[in-house]
Amino acid sequence: FNNLPGKRPPVYEGIPFVGGLLKFSQGPWKLLHDGYAKFGEVFTVPVAHKRVTFLIGPDVSPHFFKAGDDEMSQSEVYDFNVPTFGPGVVFDVEQKVRTEQFRMFTEALTKNRLKAYVPQFNREAEEYFAKWGDEGVIDFRDEFSKLITLTAARTLLGREVREQLFEQVADLLHGLDEGMVPISVFFPYLPIPVHQKRDRCRKELSKIFGKVIRQRRESGHREEDVLQQFVDARYQNVNGGRALTEEEITGLLIAVLFAGQHTSSITTSWTGIFMAANKKAWLPAVEEQKAIVAKHGTDLSFEALSEMEVLHRNITEALRMHPPLLLVMRYAKKPFSVTTSDGKTFVVPKGDVVAASPNFSHMLPQIFKNPKAYDPDRFAPPREEQNRPYSFIGFGAGRHACIGQNFAYLQIKSIWSVLLRNFEFELLDPVPDADYESMVIGPKACRVKYTRRKLL
Ligand code: HEM
Repeated sequence: FNNLPGKRPPVYEGIPFVGGLLKFSQGPWKLLHDGYAKFGEVFTVPVAHKRVTFLIGPDVSPHFFKAGDDEMSQSEVYDFNVPTFGPGVVFDVEQKVRTEQFRMFTEALTKNRLKAYVPQFNREAEEYFAKWGDEGVIDFRDEFSKLITLTAARTLLGREVREQLFEQVADLLHGLDEGMVPISVFFPYLPIPVHQKRDRCRKELSKIFGKVIRQRRESGHREEDVLQQFVDARYQNVNGGRALTEEEITGLLIAVLFAGQHTSSITTSWTGIFMAANKKAWLPAVEEQKAIVAKHGTDLSFEALSEMEVLHRNITEALRMHPPLLLVMRYAKKPFSVTTSDGKTFVVPKGDVVAASPNFSHMLPQIFKNPKAYDPDRFAPPREEQNRPYSFIGFGAGRHACIGQNFAYLQIKSIWSVLLRNFEFELLDPVPDADYESMVIGPKACRVKYTRRKLL
């Protein structure tokens, strides 16, 4: 009755209940590859007790990205985050409250706010790399994960946490991280040790952040950070226009950290790996730094960072090749139809989980020429391969596109500007594969030799 008439997408049969769950949680690359080869842009896979319909490529993606939450809903597929983010925020609240909380994220990351965060990005990067020796062997993953935790602490959580409580908070956040394993997506409340630890860490974070927020409010002291934005924020059309509670602020901060931290540090790592492996990408980026220094001096202002187009494309290409979020998902609250590039129309029924895959879509040769090659110029005129809507989806697209995209680019550019100006790098291992074992997908181990050489 509630379904549109029409043909349903083909079902990828033959994956048993547990097999489907396992294959899915071990990274859906092979599944997508085989499904796409067999059925094309739209197909359904039974995963445990659910049906997951994959939409691959820009032709079948517009509804997924554009539709309102009453049609393509997030909360049913992302509510496994509730024990991590905590009560009263994001996927634990009804749509109209969530919309206002997302507005608060957006307001905390406007251009003017970003301008205030840039000097903090620079300061953290400069202090961090000042501690490196003249030469040494590192792994980008470890270094950038540490640096971005420090920067996130300063710009998001605030001065108190960064300067007085850093070790303690970093440990607790690590406990939250460890509590997010593939099985958590299906059974977030399973009483396993990592979930129990997650819950203890989450409680402790509430206490610590609660105290910091109370002090800010009582003292009237203000800072340039996202915490301050949340302290000042008020609901507009819901909750009687009140300010956020301490528990809500804590939850929103954790949500922003989870959205932005690993995604950014992984993209910073891939950018470095590919630039170190490709002189054709490294040299123009160094030349660009020289031109920017000639124009703006050594100061890495918001304007100077925004002018770094070569570095921008190098980052975008790293993100195209290795988007850290394998799948973006929705729940179909209403049936909808999709038409493939060869003119077949299918009706996706209400109740399906619907998924788009940045990883897989970014490797379609009809969209990105020679997709396995690291080639940042594909984003420059006249090629501009990303221009077709829904082709580059590393930051999602449409209604729920990443709110932190500009924050991420500025932060990654700040880090790589400091490095391009002061170091050279040599990969001691081949360019690594992605490690599909984790929730946010980054590179496998890769040793890199750095040499301090004041270039600029
Ligand atoms: C949404 C990727 C950095 C905050 C998204 C989505 C993607 C994404 C793919 C869409 C999810 C979906 O459609 O279901 C990335 C990548 C990043 C990054 C690759 C770094 C390279 C950040 C940062 C922040 C952030 C630094 C915050 C400071 C958000 C938020 C959303 C989001 C709040 C939810 C938007 C919504 O659902 O309406 N991100 N992100 N992200 N991102 Fe990012």
